[in-house]
Amino acid sequence: MAAVMDPIPGTSDLWEPEVLDWVQIEDCARKVLSLYGFNELRTPIFERTELFVRGIGDQTEVVQKEMYTFEDRGHRSLTLRPEGTAGVMRAILHQGVSEGEEKRVFYMGPMFRGEKPAAGRKRQFHQIGVEAVGTTEPGRDAESIAMLVHFLDDIGISDARILLNTRGTAADREAVADALYEYFKPRVEGMCPDCQRRLGTNVWRMMDCKQEACQPVIHSAPRIVDLVGEESRSFFMEVCKFLDELGLEYELDPRLVRGLDYYEHTVFEVVHSGLGAQDAIAGGGRYKMQLPGQNRPIEGVGWAVGIERLLLARESLGIRAEATTPANVYVAVMGAAAAKAGLELVQELRRHDIKALSEVGRRSLKAQMRTANKLGAPLALILGDSELSEGTVVCKNMATSEQETVKRTDIAQYLLSKILSI
Ligand code: HAM
Repeated sequence: MAAVMDPIPGTSDLWEPEVLDWVQIEDCARKVLSLYGFNELRTPIFERTELFVRGIGDQTEVVQKEMYTFEDRGHRSLTLRPEGTAGVMRAILHQGVSEGEEKRVFYMGPMFRGEKPAAGRKRQFHQIGVEAVGTTEPGRDAESIAMLVHFLDDIGISDARILLNTRGTAADREAVADALYEYFKPRVEGMCPDCQRRLGTNVWRMMDCKQEACQPVIHSAPRIVDLVGEESRSFFMEVCKFLDELGLEYELDPRLVRGLDYYEHTVFEVVHSGLGAQDAIAGGGRYKMQLPGQNRPIEGVGWAVGIERLLLARESLGIRAEATTPANVYVAVMGAAAAKAGLELVQELRRHDIKALSEVGRRSLKAQMRTANKLGAPLALILGDSELSEGTVVCKNMATSEQETVKRTDIAQYLLSKILSI
């Protein structure tokens, strides 16, 4: 039996220094996304279940198998958000958006899916996502992908592959499903049980099944881009032309269908070789979502990256945020009066943006110096009765053991210049 104090499987406690990588990635996202005119939006982590069922699609695996759904005390069915797009669309519609108006938002935070935990697959995972709504031009799809590449470059991931495909419009969906059904039906016997089930429920998903047994059949399946209508094909060609124009490399992946049913036209995924089976670090595309109580759908284009997977990709490249020392200055004190003065001194230093810690107990100077060393503080200050009466402080360079006596009133400025030169 799992111990009560263990984190729930598929969730993690995050400690420094790992948290520093998260902060670096989040800061970088804020910087890059704002260059493209995106503003941050924070939506609740739980919403009405119906929002996700309608938004994501009731036939999707996320809705059918993976949602954390519960009834609250008012007998409302609520769900922890399994992804960000549906909630963001709700928020935008709630605030109001006029026809033809463009809105660009980004979000970051936890998402929840009841999947089997594995490397790079968590039950609580974290996404950074973007949505540009009110845009129907293929140039926006290319710009969205370019922004993703820009962000990945800035966090040090420049060797990821972009996989691209189209799902066509809603009008194409039935014809494509019919053609795929015709193709798969006579061949389904040798395929996995999931695919046998999908044939009757969601034939599209048979295209991206990862089971070994299904590969030869899928490999020879008709390409979706050849099954969709003229409008969809020319939209897709336009997206490709824009990407070519921007000099972005991508691979056409006829099997890419994505697991969420709101997509229309462009779909893409970004994969990285540093991950195992769960190699998608990002996914996205163009979508059209019909939400409950709305008389017209909302459409846009966007993507989301999984932060845990970005970390795995960075780790495989040897990229880590540098751990910082908890203190640049350690204040060692001797005697009760010095302990009080030491506390006052560290407060003053912190007000000058100097990271400082002080001794408050009565340990020997030797023990206090050991602590300064352990913390990795490059400088230590020593404060005793004689320094107090002379209005001075002794400053020790921990690496060289050199000591200098500095006037108490000058100490903050002195340390600031010292820290800069270390
Ligand atoms: P998604 O492909 O389901 O798309 O998720 C996006 C990314 O989230 C994945 O590429 C992966 O990095 C990460 N991710 C998904 N599930 C897990 C998991 N169980 N554990 C760890 N990481 C995971 C979406 O969610 C769409 N809302 C993206 C989008 C935005 N499309 C248009 N706009």
